[in-house]
Order: sequence, then structure tokens, then C-alpha cells
Amino acid sequence: MKTITIDKTKCTHCGLCISDCTTGCIDFDSENFPKIVDEKRCISCQHCLAICPTGALSFGDKHPNDSQAVEYSDILGLIKSRRSVRQYGEDEIAPEIMDKLKQMLPYVPTGCNNHSLHFSIVEKKSAMDEIRKKVNDLLIKTMSYKALSPIMNKFSRYKDAFLKGEDVIFRGAPHMIVASSPLSAPCANVDPIIALSYFELYAQHLGLGTCWCGFAQACLKIFPELCEMLEIPPGYKPVYVMLFGNPKVKYQRTVQPEPYSISEIKEIHKKDSCVFCKIKRFVTNFLR
Ligand SMILES: Cc1cc2nc3c(=O)[nH]c(=O)nc-3n(C[C@H](O)[C@H](O)[C@H](O)COP(=O)(O)O)c2cc1C
Repeated sequence: MKTITIDKTKCTHCGLCISDCTTGCIDFDSENFPKIVDEKRCISCQHCLAICPTGALSFGDKHPNDSQAVEYSDILGLIKSRRSVRQYGEDEIAPEIMDKLKQMLPYVPTGCNNHSLHFSIVEKKSAMDEIRKKVNDLLIKTMSYKALSPIMNKFSRYKDAFLKGEDVIFRGAPHMIVASSPLSAPCANVDPIIALSYFELYAQHLGLGTCWCGFAQACLKIFPELCEMLEIPPGYKPVYVMLFGNPKVKYQRTVQPEPYSISEIKEIHKKDSCVFCKIKRFVTNFLR
């Protein structure tokens, strides 16, 4: 069960936990304290716990005192403190910061040192606004074609927001970077993800906010005209998109994710498996 518990002596009713909730599943209760109102929508990102200025909010059994203070300078602190930022300042980032980000990119590793990535970086907010409008118009237009509804499924619940011109896709970000690779690259689908992962950490180390944007990536897939606008070279596939800009939010503490399952292999116990298991593994590996 997903619940938040509020220390009523500490809560200042500032509403930051509500405004930063990406799925909009928190609201004030009748006493003006935050409460999860739609548990099914909650994705357990713990942004509510991370942002609360007074440490009044616990998420499930995660108490704010058990989080660490945010720390963007040392590498482990940075990894723990990185958050997906969905609220940005209006201003463009400083040109020298933009330069630092661009200068970092050639150092990211690529499979076979193929080094053929292409990056489209929207540097001007006015250009970003043009893309925002284009995507909104395209989505509204495309939603009216019934034949396309399976492709548009992931967007359909935001139809009203699109009609109101709300920026559900780009979250008001002043910039974005799209990492593309040529189809011929040996690790065409992996290299761009590695590059954006490095980009994200470096950007947050420099004080910026970033957000992986699956929605924008889906739009690039559906609407080829966006690839033209972003000057993605012919024969290159736009693999992923990251929004960035000056953050309008400040997180106070780290989240407390559940640990992953880890097989700690110290000696080999299973040396062979049945044919059926092998076929199942083979299919799983290739479906991925
Ligand atoms: C591959 C990928 C795609 C994502 N796409 C979106 C997106 O389209 N819109 C959005 O607001 N957040 C997006 N996110 C952010 C996730 O929702 C976020 O990482 C998650 O809620 C955990 O929050 P955190 O990054 O602050 O730890 C994406 C994240 C990843 C890794």
C-alpha cells in the first residue's frame, strides 16, 4: 500500500509535495495536510519525501531522517541526489555551462569506440517553444485519427491537457538534447543512453535539472518532421531525449529506493540446464 504520513507539527502546508508529484496523486485533505488521493497513480518516486523543506513527510516506511542530505559534488552523493526535474526556470542556462556540457560529450564511451553519435541540442528557448507548439499541434491533430489510436494510447489520457496547451511532454524545459546514432553503429541503441547518462550526472553536478523524456522520444518516432527540425542526419535514429535547464525546485534529501536483486556469484553452482530452460533463456534474451 502506498501511503504518506505527515508529522503535523512540522508540515507548513507549503504544497511542494503536491506540485512536484509527477502523477498528481497527492492533494490536501480536509485539514490541509497532504495525502495520497489516488494510490494507483503513485509511482513511488519519493519526490514528496525528497522535496519537503521541513522533513515532515514519510513515504510508507521511509522516514526523512533516514535519507541523506543532497550532495552534488562527490560522485556517490551525486548519483544518490540526482532527481528527475520537471519544473524549470524560464531562463536559458548560461552559455559557459552549455559549453562545458558540449565539451564533455566526446569523452563518453561508445561500443568499439565507434564514436559516431550525433547530438541535437536545443540551445534557445524560442526554438524549444517552437518545438513544443509543433508537438502539441501534431498530437491534437493525430488523436483525431482513429486508425492511429493504438500508437497514441500513451498520450490519450493527456488529451485535455494538450487541448489547454499544457506542456505535458517537455515540462516547460528551456532546453533538450537528443542523442542519435547511425543504424550501422555496433551498439546503436546503447551508446546514446550511455552518453545521456553521463550528460545527466554532469549537468546535475553543474547545478542544472534534467529529465529523461520517453514522451518526447515517442513523439520523435511518430512525427518524422521533428527529426528534420532537430537536424538529425539522414540514416540516424534518435534514441533518447533529455530535458534540461535551471531547476525551479530544490530537493532537500535523497530518496530511499528498495535494493535491487543481486546474485553474488562466489562459486558456480549451476553448470548446465535442461534443453527447455535453455530455449526459454534464448527466447528471453532475443526478445529483449
Ligand atoms: C527511460 C526513461 C524515460 C522517462 N520518461 C519520462 C517522461 O517522458 N516524462 C517524465 O516526466 N519523466 C520521465 N522519466 C523520469 C522517471 O519517471 C523518473 O526517473 C522516476 O520517476 C524516478 O524519479 P527520479 O529520477 O527523480 O529518481 C523517465 C525516466 C527514464 C529513465
